[in-house]
Amino acid sequence: MTSVALDVDSVRADFPILKQQIHGRPLVYLDSGASAQKPEVVTQAMSDYYRRDHSNVHRGVHTLSQRATAAYETVREKVCTLLNAARTSEIIYVSGTTAAINLVAQTYGRANLSPGSEILVTEMEHHANIVPWQIACELSGATLKVVPFHDNGVLDLDQYRTMLSDNTRIVAVTHISNTLGTINPMAEMIRLAHDAGAVVLVDGAQAVPHMEVDVQALDCDFYAFSGHKLYGPTGFGILYGKESLLEAMPPWQGGGDMIKQVRFAQTTYNDLPYKFEAGTPHIAGAVGLGAAIDYVSGHGLSQIAAHERALLDYAQAQASAVSGLQVFGTAPDKAAVLSFELDGIHAHDVGTVLDHEGVAVRAGHHCAMPVMEHFGVAATVRASFGMYNNYDDVDALFAGIARTKDLMSA
Ligand code: ALA
Repeated sequence: MTSVALDVDSVRADFPILKQQIHGRPLVYLDSGASAQKPEVVTQAMSDYYRRDHSNVHRGVHTLSQRATAAYETVREKVCTLLNAARTSEIIYVSGTTAAINLVAQTYGRANLSPGSEILVTEMEHHANIVPWQIACELSGATLKVVPFHDNGVLDLDQYRTMLSDNTRIVAVTHISNTLGTINPMAEMIRLAHDAGAVVLVDGAQAVPHMEVDVQALDCDFYAFSGHKLYGPTGFGILYGKESLLEAMPPWQGGGDMIKQVRFAQTTYNDLPYKFEAGTPHIAGAVGLGAAIDYVSGHGLSQIAAHERALLDYAQAQASAVSGLQVFGTAPDKAAVLSFELDGIHAHDVGTVLDHEGVAVRAGHHCAMPVMEHFGVAATVRASFGMYNNYDDVDALFAGIARTKDLMSA
């Protein structure tokens, strides 16, 4: 089958927010790594849901409740297909990647960690895949170990192999680094962890919007992602878990919907996935994510990945021609993230000047302070690309960088 290249002009037309000026300049949005913008189909689906179908789910015999429940549950099937999960019972609705990781740390962790246990994370993790494990270690007496990365941003697999042991209970690793763009060799890492008897949680927040993910082919035990980075709404995300593990885990939060029967003498918990979904959920969030999945799948994740890779190559070529610009993260297998610093100019100043040029980037530690520490910097500037970015956006970034250098060295 011949793949059709992404029609970026038509994609851009689907995102109303992009049709505006910032400080008198056309908006150039290069912060999709923090949060992606939303196509009209997503906001429309959420608005239609609230205007026409809203009620609570799983609770009523009336028509609106049935419609809301159907809309909500249909999305579980879409997520199942997106991730190639074996069954919908393995798809847990959560508020985002952070909640998903905390859920696993507090349930699987609580049940399986004890003094002497080890958890492996990597030096390139987002804080959301570090701090929940530090808390789990404090509660259980387990030890956190950190797999380092090389200066080009590639994970040190030799160290990883050495650090895995009979004591390793959990490996928690990002699929794609939000700061360096590194795509980690997940299938190999998961196989090695399983050989050591550990389970693997993959932080897929930066991966799901940018590549095809197949949880069965990866054989990961848990996989987490957020809707808002996949062109869907904030406050809604997914935890995938293997059914056998989820079945054995204690529940997370207690409340309505996660129970079968409540008696003061004893409460019995609901079946999967509801055992982990206490309380009235973000129903419109599910509806919005469903529309976002349809939108992205309609364009094809491999086409999106190829387009973003071409943008990254174009940006990296321009970056190498700018004197005083240092790029952090040059792994051969890399997603569309360009983190850099300009010699002698603070990242926040670069971000501020770029904003005045209409260019939105993230400046700071990107919730990955250990990565900053590795390179001995306080902050970097990060341009991150999405399916709606084009070559003009990259040119605008580098025109803004030239302007920053002129202004700040004047
Ligand atoms: N995790 C998001 C980022 O990388 C917020 O910017």
